[in-house]
Amino acid sequence: MWARLRELATEAMRRAYAPYSHFRVGAAALVDDGRLVSGCNVENAGYGVALCAECGLVSELVRTGGGRLVAFACVDGDGQPCSPCGRCRQVLSEHAHPDMLLAMPSGVMTIDQVLPDRFTQADIARVTGGPAPAPEGGRP
Ligand code: THU
Repeated sequence: MWARLRELATEAMRRAYAPYSHFRVGAAALVDDGRLVSGCNVENAGYGVALCAECGLVSELVRTGGGRLVAFACVDGDGQPCSPCGRCRQVLSEHAHPDMLLAMPSGVMTIDQVLPDRFTQADIARVTGGPAPAPEGGRP
């Protein structure tokens, strides 16, 4: 599984649009229904609005039917494991299976190890008293 994810992430990385940083990133993940999703970074002349590879991956996840991410790999331009940035850890967390695994440069880690005490829908529900998840396709 990790070899396939790394291969898919590397394919995505080759499609990256990174004319400013020249730092290409590709990400791939296995969904709990067996689907594979991927993404690459897409930069912009407005440097601050660059889209990380993980954003493309999560967009594909939602567009193709949603589900929970169970395994994730991210590679740099050399095809080596790349560490997801802090913002992307939160983006991934929202769609993570509770036991999600990530192939990090230092080895395989769980979502709770890469983002301890992560902020989730449950933290909002605790205060608002509302149901934890917003209705599918509905308004908050
Ligand atoms: N980048 C990602 O795509 N994902 C990460 O988690 C780390 C950073 C991209 C954003 C930018 O296009 C380039 O890498 C350099 O920061």
